[in-house]
Amino acid sequence: MKVISINGQILDLEKDAKISVLDRGFLYGDSVYEVTEVRNGKVGFLKAHLDRLQNSALKMHMHLQLSFKEYERRIIEVATRLHEAGHDRCYIRLVVTRGEGEITLDPQAASNQNVIIIGKELPENPTSWYDDGVEVIIASTLRNPVKSMDPNIKSGNYLNNILAYNEAKEAGYFDAIMLNQDGNVTECTTSNIWIVKDGIFKTPPIAAGLLKGITRENVIRILGKHGIAFEEVNFTGSELKDADECFLTSSTKYLVPIVKVDDTIIGNGKPGCKTLQVLDIFKSEL
Ligand SMILES: Cc1ncc(COP(=O)(O)O)c(C=O)c1O
Repeated sequence: MKVISINGQILDLEKDAKISVLDRGFLYGDSVYEVTEVRNGKVGFLKAHLDRLQNSALKMHMHLQLSFKEYERRIIEVATRLHEAGHDRCYIRLVVTRGEGEITLDPQAASNQNVIIIGKELPENPTSWYDDGVEVIIASTLRNPVKSMDPNIKSGNYLNNILAYNEAKEAGYFDAIMLNQDGNVTECTTSNIWIVKDGIFKTPPIAAGLLKGITRENVIRILGKHGIAFEEVNFTGSELKDADECFLTSSTKYLVPIVKVDDTIIGNGKPGCKTLQVLDIFKSEL
């Protein structure tokens, strides 16, 4: 089941949910978005997602036209419909495009942003992800450099990530890790990446060129709270393969253990116990 809101109007039927072909999100990927989950009617880390939406928009000189309260009201409206229809876990995607206008790169050609919220039922993630772990490749597609198209802008232009994901899919892997031009690890195509080495949790710094994930931030907070060693540090693909444990993080996937990278088995080839320990804490807070 899907519930869609376009500019404040709820549409129950997918076929009625339409946006103009002149919308800049469609023409240029000139939009920002956020994805989160709704569990038992509660929207996950809503304030953090709205803050990041605003940050993405400001980085592309776009000023959000609605108040946080109004985005929140519309999101909750969609979430409530899904909850009332009996869906305990749902996916919410909030998209704000720069709007419609003449076909030109000039952002000022559009003055009214389109606000789209797509809500849909989201079954629990497969238990195999957490019981067995997943396998990823290191993509040959590099992550966009910060000074080219900052990965910390969560925009509707995901072609860089799609190219890397395609590599993983064609090779039969779950996802792809993307490197930057210095050969350092950045992130996966829709999640952040972590390793555990000699008891220390490590994740690349934002300056490596990656999205400041909200789950990443929550894991950092949990590590601090429980006095678990943590470092934000650059590491290469081969350092990653030499890790004791490896995992990815995202709002809908949580912490997913990675047990193989390319042809290399990570640790003992099973989900790492430190990863699972933090996953348990993370889930207990949802
Ligand atoms: C490129 C990228 N990196 C990381 C993430 C993880 O972010 P979050 O934990 O906020 O879901 C996402 C999620 O959409 C993403 O698209």
